[in-house]
Amino acid sequence: MSGSASVGRFAHANAARMIDYWLGGIHYLPVDVEAAKEYEAAYGDFRGIFRVLRAYIGRAARAIRAEGIDQLLVFGAGLPTSGNVHEAVPDARVLYTDVDPINIAMGQRILAGQPNVGYAYCDASDLTTLDRAPVERVLGPIRRLGIVFVGVAAFIADDKLAATFASLYDLAPVGSLMALDFDSEMCRRYPRIVELLEAPGLRFHMRAPEAIRPLLGPWRLTSEGITPVGAWRNRGEDADYPPFMYGCMVRRPGDEEG
Ligand SMILES: C[S@@+](CC[C@H](N)C(=O)[O-])C[C@H]1O[C@@H](n2cnc3c(N)ncnc32)[C@H](O)[C@@H]1O
Repeated sequence: MSGSASVGRFAHANAARMIDYWLGGIHYLPVDVEAAKEYEAAYGDFRGIFRVLRAYIGRAARAIRAEGIDQLLVFGAGLPTSGNVHEAVPDARVLYTDVDPINIAMGQRILAGQPNVGYAYCDASDLTTLDRAPVERVLGPIRRLGIVFVGVAAFIADDKLAATFASLYDLAPVGSLMALDFDSEMCRRYPRIVELLEAPGLRFHMRAPEAIRPLLGPWRLTSEGITPVGAWRNRGEDADYPPFMYGCMVRRPGDEEG
């Protein structure tokens, strides 16, 4: 589904705008609501799934910021609302990227007038599609980078995903951190969800934790390892939410440590 941003059988709906709907936002289209209701018929608590995922994004972004990193690059960003990265770390520079032109236009409009935050095109399965100009304008010269790669791995096949993580490793200065998530095989318990996600010719990639590790290449996992996103650095609310997604944080070690 690389380069495409539709949601399975709903050619014009987009997961990012459906998430905004589920999170109580105002930036979605009628086609997104129609698709969201079909998904809710298959599993009643999509609001919960994405409440938990958005909270993970917030904890991960704050953990990155707490390590002194103030430049964050976000892939498959969705809409910059409802606790997305720049709201979680308001004193950082944040560049959001996505492939969906409507999300990008909406995002640019939502962020207008905020000099330290921007929104640009990038296909997360091909980093050559990221323009240098917005990176330089919004992030400035890169020192250590925080990368947020959440909600997008499911749309990318293993070989391309491993190649993307390798390219990000080459791009990221030593000490950079990347937060990731992967859809688990939990969805298979709800065959209708998989049916909705996989339109003919499209694959939705669900991965077990042991399938994630080999994709990370030389990136080094932090001590939390790979956990359900609700449990990542969280013992409070939603820590035991059903594991629809796994998350982890990885660090770019020094070359002598690598
Ligand atoms: C499930 S939403 C996740 C949004 C946000 N990251 C979150 O977790 O709430 C997936 C997003 O990835 C985007 N997307 C899908 N394939 C992509 C690709 N190859 N490169 C970049 N973005 C992609 C979609 O347009 C959509 O905005």
